[in-house]
Amino acid sequence: MCGIVGAVGFISPKEYVFKGLKMLDYRGYDSAGVAYFNEGIQIYKDVGSVEHLLTIVPEKIDTNIMIGHTRWATHGAPTKLNTHPHLSFHKRICLVHNGVIENFKELRSFLIEKGYSFYGETDTEIIANLIEYYYLQSGDVIETIKVVKPLIKGSYAFVFFTSDDPNTLYVLKKASPLVIGLGKGFNLVASDASPMIDYTNEFIELDDGEFGYVNKEDAVIFNKKGQKTIKDPISKDVELISHDLKGYPHYMLKEIEEIPQTIKRLISCYFQKGKYQFDKELLKDLNESDHIIFIGCGTSYHAGLVGGRYFEKYGKSASRFIASEWAFHPTYPGKKPFIIMISQSGETADLIHCLTIIKEHNLKNLIITNTGGSTLDRNCMYSLLLHSGVEVSVASTKAYVAQVTLLAMLAGALVNDKKVVDDLRESLDVVYDIQDHYKPLIMKVADEIKDKKNIFYLGRSFDYFLSLEASLKLKEISYIHSEAIPGGELKHGPIALIEKGIPVIVFITDPDTAASMRGNIEEVKSRGAKVYTIATKKLSRPEDTIMVEDYAYYLSSVAVSPIAFYLAYYVALAKGLNVDKPRNLAKSVTVE
Ligand code: F6R
Repeated sequence: MCGIVGAVGFISPKEYVFKGLKMLDYRGYDSAGVAYFNEGIQIYKDVGSVEHLLTIVPEKIDTNIMIGHTRWATHGAPTKLNTHPHLSFHKRICLVHNGVIENFKELRSFLIEKGYSFYGETDTEIIANLIEYYYLQSGDVIETIKVVKPLIKGSYAFVFFTSDDPNTLYVLKKASPLVIGLGKGFNLVASDASPMIDYTNEFIELDDGEFGYVNKEDAVIFNKKGQKTIKDPISKDVELISHDLKGYPHYMLKEIEEIPQTIKRLISCYFQKGKYQFDKELLKDLNESDHIIFIGCGTSYHAGLVGGRYFEKYGKSASRFIASEWAFHPTYPGKKPFIIMISQSGETADLIHCLTIIKEHNLKNLIITNTGGSTLDRNCMYSLLLHSGVEVSVASTKAYVAQVTLLAMLAGALVNDKKVVDDLRESLDVVYDIQDHYKPLIMKVADEIKDKKNIFYLGRSFDYFLSLEASLKLKEISYIHSEAIPGGELKHGPIALIEKGIPVIVFITDPDTAASMRGNIEEVKSRGAKVYTIATKKLSRPEDTIMVEDYAYYLSSVAVSPIAFYLAYYVALAKGLNVDKPRNLAKSVTVE
């Protein structure tokens, strides 16, 4: 859940490293640090933002090697001492790390026996010292990596350099992403390609177990068996990895407004000349399976809830699980289960854990992800990309809509139901209408609810799934306690919480459940709740807050979710909060 960058061969790597850290700080923003070589290893690090770090480093830095790190604390509090880069005891190895070392306590004891001591509490500092310990014996870094690699249990992307050779960066990766950018007269590394795109469009994505080094001329990679290997560079779609805010004040707002483009891109990618464009083998495996299991975390789990219904609509049996629950109690009903995992980042540790189990049991599987080249993209049997462009804001918006859109199309493709595509196109009009006409009204509601301590969302069926997502979005960026309740469950307990003035936000877009939802509205209103109803025109009443155009109701997570996203955004904005980087969170959750 951290971001790492490195450069070698640049006349001045500072510009790239800081630009890169700013682009990657959505991966973690507790603290940040850089290290470079100039008459010895120089390290600057502190708690706080990359902007703050910039104020404490020298303005002019004379070096041609630099590494940087932006941290989301796992082992060890977010203190200056625990901030990366870490320097080894004898000051020979300087290292940054993304991931978690599971056996760091054993390694720590081993090093203490060898006379080492430590200044901080991190697992990363232990690895810097472990490398140093073996390096001092062999004097050869690559040989050292071969010895150290089998000793380390856990996930990692390491980048380091030695005080003996300030012209080489070493890299080593397992279960955390690491990409090399190939330049002319320089080479770069980073957690993803986005910081490097202004400098090169030739990338090498490291696979698990691979390691190697880069200097200003070369990038040398060894495979997991330790043999030198040649990897063909790949290029990236600049538009899809760009972090340009394009004039928006926040990434979240920009990403909400990119929702129509996201839907359109998915349609044009997976439906061409009147035909679905999914891999035939994938469709065959899905059709032959007798049970589909959807697994995800947070927002992606919510997309799986909706997706499950889509497959059920076409007669498939389906179940849905939160990845961290399934990982410790895996069940796979049916004789031929098929697993669909959903992950914006493709790097979520809980899902990677699930994938290990899925592979052990030889289960057919698919990942739906926004991140080509991610761990899940590369290791799942099938992968469908969301093509939504990088999602920087910690709160997922356009990726959620993309996940649901793609699931609707995939389910439709199973039985060649082309109406799904027409329905999606129709729902696009609703999204545009919301963007064009409802923002002032949503801002007004945001202003009314921003100081409330508790908020409830109500819905049934698809509107309940949407409520779950709306509620998660609101709580994570506005810090208001919020809960989504299925309308039918209200009287089974939660109604006890309804008191005078409490905001209850209700979605009524599903004709089958609309009448029951009207009953629920009366129940909470009569107990003093302030109700805000979002309904489709056909199901609306004059007193409703927002009435959107009608659409195929099973697509409410596509058509109406922007209302929920704008509301969360405007509440956080009205409270003066950091919309894109809410407290305690990080974009990629790479620890379990
Ligand atoms: C909420 C949010 C998270 C993620 C979750 C899974 O806005 O973004 O709940 O959905 O951490 O992340 P991915 O989809 O990357 O696996």
